[in-house]
This record gives sequence, structure tokens and C-alpha cells, in this order.
Amino acid sequence: MDTPDSTSPLLSVRGICKRYGDRVALQDASFDLWPGEVLAVVGESGSGKSTLLNAVAARSAPDAGSVQFRGRDGALQDVFAMTEAQQRLLARTDWGFVHQNAADGLRMDVSAGANVGERLMGLGERHYGRLRSTAADWLQRVEIDPARIDDAPRTFSGGMRQRLQIARNLVTQPRLVFMDEPTSGLDVSVQARLLDMLRQLTRQMQLAAIIVTHDLAVARLLAHRMVVMQRGRVVESGLTDQVLDDPQHPYTQLLVSSVLQP
Ligand SMILES: Nc1ncnc2c1ncn2[C@@H]1O[C@H](COP(=O)(O)OP(=O)(O)OP(=O)(O)O)[C@@H](O)[C@H]1O
Ligand SMILES: [Mg+2]
Repeated sequence: MDTPDSTSPLLSVRGICKRYGDRVALQDASFDLWPGEVLAVVGESGSGKSTLLNAVAARSAPDAGSVQFRGRDGALQDVFAMTEAQQRLLARTDWGFVHQNAADGLRMDVSAGANVGERLMGLGERHYGRLRSTAADWLQRVEIDPARIDDAPRTFSGGMRQRLQIARNLVTQPRLVFMDEPTSGLDVSVQARLLDMLRQLTRQMQLAAIIVTHDLAVARLLAHRMVVMQRGRVVESGLTDQVLDDPQHPYTQLLVSSVLQP
């Protein structure tokens, strides 16, 4: 068996295709993700970013293609060959998924503490005191006053909900987190703080992440590498600074220059 190291990908995505009826949403999308790496997926609205993320995260089956994930034991797992139960286990242990709309990723009517504790309980933790103190720690880490631990997220602001969703996902120390436009519903100052927090957490936890965004500034701030999508295809990929400073594909050149226009 080959040993895991920083030269073998954590995730290998090959040839993902997806159609909705006659419409081709994804055409032969491939990329690799290395351990601890943050990859941004950028492109205009409708280019297939969310479709790609949902396919790779095994939330919606593609028509073709494969996803291989390197487990903690170093062995490659074929994600689409897993049973649904195995996929669910992966999704609540080694993987996290942060939705654009926090209400899709939280239970809005149960307490903040229970939202954070749920994934730990799913892994077998039953000790109430430990669950509560871990939840309180995580609220603090995402800058939510632990005094709000018994409040339900429907009483939280948009930014707080998004931070709670992040705590709920990270509490199990996942190795890979998928995020679909995690900051786009928030106003600019709240976005900046959340991005800063995400940057710190991904570095501290050596977390690999795939972050979908239409905002090149988000990619610049968070991502080591990026892939650019246009009409369901990956048209360019590379180191973030290289792609943004010296875009090769005409579509990427257009994206970059339209952002730079005053
Ligand atoms: N459930 C669906 N049924 C039919 N077509 C869909 C569905 N979901 C997505 N599509 C189509 O697939 C294409 C890609 O959509 P997708 O949501 O992946 O784009 P996106 O890049 O995430 O866009 P946005 O930035 O607006 O979120 C679009 O043409 C869209 O209309
Ligand atoms: Mg989308």
C-alpha cells in the first residue's frame, strides 16, 4: 500500500459529467486536492460550480466520473462505489459541508449547543458535560458568546448562523470541508471577518477545503490553488496568484479584468 504524504492527493476527481435533461451542467471536470490545501472553484453564475461541488461531495450522483478520497489509513476510497451508509459516515466524520444558506446546514429550532454537539454524538460521544463544554469551546472559537449556547439559531444574525454552521462542521476535526459561497449572503464587513476566521481555521487545523465562490477576492484570500469554470468545463487551473496575476485562458482574462475595471 502506498503511504500518505503531501505528494499524494487527498482527493482525485476525474471526468465528472452531469446533465439535466438536454442541458450539460458539467463536462469532464477533473482536479486533484492535496492535504491541507484550499482550492477555490470560480466562474460565472450557471457555470456548474455548485453542481461540481455537490457531485464531488456525493450529495448528488453525476452521470460519469470518479472521486477517490484518501482515508486516514492512507488507502484510496472510491467514493461512488461506497454504500449510502458509508457515504453518510464519511460526510459526518472526515468531511464537512458548509451551505450558502445557513438554514440548510443547521437545525434552526434546536439550541446552538445541540447543533454543535450533534456530529460528536453521531460519533458516539454521550457524556453531557463533555458535549456541552466542547460546544462552548467551539462557540468561542467562532466568536459566538457561549452564553448563547441554549439559544436556537433562528434567533441569531446571518453572520452568527454562518459561524455556527462552521463550528458544527469543524467540531469533528474533518480533513476536508466543502463550502458553497459561504460568505455571499452576508454584508461586506461581516464577510471580511468570516473570511479571516476561515483562513485562520483552515491553517490551524490543516484543513483541506473546496470553496465555491464567484468572488475572486475570496479566492485570493483563502485559496492556494483555483480552478476556473465556464459552461460546465474547467478552463484553467493553477496556483491562485499565478492564475489571477497572469491568466492564460481568455475567459479567465475577462473575469480578472472585469473585476479590476473601476
Ligand atoms: N436541479 C436542476 N435542474 C435543472 N438544471 C439545473 C439544476 N441545477 C442546476 N442546473 C443547471 O446546471 C447549470 C449549472 O448550475 P449550477 O447551479 O451548478 O451553477 P453555479 O455555477 O453554481 O451558479 P451560481 O453561481 O448561480 O450558484 C445551470 O445551467 C443550471 O441551470
Ligand atoms: Mg451555485
